[in-house]
Amino acid sequence: EKGGWDSFMDKEIHEDPAAVQQTLMGRLSEDGEIQLDEVRIDENELKSIDKIVVVACGTASYAGMVAKYAIEHWVRIPVEIELAHEFRYRDPILTPRTLVVAISQSGETMDTLMALRHAREQGSKVLAICNTQGASIARESDAVLYTHAGPEVAVASTKAFVAQITAAYILGLYLAQIKGTVFRDEIRGTLDQLQAMPRKIQWILDTQVDTIAKAAAQLDDAKSFLFLGRHVGYPVALEGALKLKEIAYTFTEGFAAGELKHGPIALVDEGEPVVFIVPPARGRNILHAKVISGIEEVKARGATIIAVAEEGDPDVDRYADFVFWRPECPTLMSPLVDVVPLQLFAMDMANQKGYDVDKPRNLAKSVTVE
Ligand code: F6R
Repeated sequence: EKGGWDSFMDKEIHEDPAAVQQTLMGRLSEDGEIQLDEVRIDENELKSIDKIVVVACGTASYAGMVAKYAIEHWVRIPVEIELAHEFRYRDPILTPRTLVVAISQSGETMDTLMALRHAREQGSKVLAICNTQGASIARESDAVLYTHAGPEVAVASTKAFVAQITAAYILGLYLAQIKGTVFRDEIRGTLDQLQAMPRKIQWILDTQVDTIAKAAAQLDDAKSFLFLGRHVGYPVALEGALKLKEIAYTFTEGFAAGELKHGPIALVDEGEPVVFIVPPARGRNILHAKVISGIEEVKARGATIIAVAEEGDPDVDRYADFVFWRPECPTLMSPLVDVVPLQLFAMDMANQKGYDVDKPRNLAKSVTVE
């Protein structure tokens, strides 16, 4: 079933491009409009939505965090992300105009299911972004947007993550379309950008695998790793940190790069590996300059720099000990490519240490207890 791959994880990372492509398929009409026939929430009701609350756990919650940057930008309504287990046991503010979006690969995560039940009891509409046909979370929601990543077998989530971001972006653009918050041409342009992403992910799989494996071979005895990013790179850093801890059992911490000087830089010592998600370099991107200055700061303290960066970024080349290149793309699209080297890196680290990458200790593929 692994179809020649060493592990399901390896196979599924290589299905990242298809996961994005299949999730886009059938949702765009000939004239470039988004069609979500499957979402059976009345269009007028969706038009009146004034807040989105994403409930999810783990990797799915990071996909939600990525989507927040895009949806707030396009739809101009607040998007909150909440861990499902935290959401359920406080007193969240929900109204009939709140759209709760439950993101789950398995569709059976009990924490997420309890959160969506709670939201529906409060009168909010719930839309599920789910990868498993007919799963509990899909069945109990008012609407479902399926991610078509195909079955995910490896415990660590990979292709489901890129599919979740894709589905959440489609939802965001759909809301922008019906609310009229973004010009049609711009929606179309953004859809074109999304459709170009599978090819860009494929480029990473075609060109960066050896570099990443070599880096893992040199770094596998490191005791801990820090992962830093800004803007959409921040949730990508959290996801990269989670992957490495769950399958390679390495202590990791992911945080927003802007926080460095507010505390975490105290952790940086000679040889400490620090992974940076570097924003696109083009167009004098202010975020890029800020992340580069973060790299300079930790480099000056002797850190080992691992960077995920846009092909040919000269600043990164100057400071980084290891670079995982990704093709040029707009900032909002970058998580779809940036996460891929981090998935491969975690897998290589775990393989290097002799662990079973598909079945990490203490973890189950779907967590059906609260
Ligand atoms: C991480 C991972 C978990 C899941 C989380 C939610 O690799 O797999 O963090 O993302 O348990 O699972 P789903 O998406 O099935 O609700």
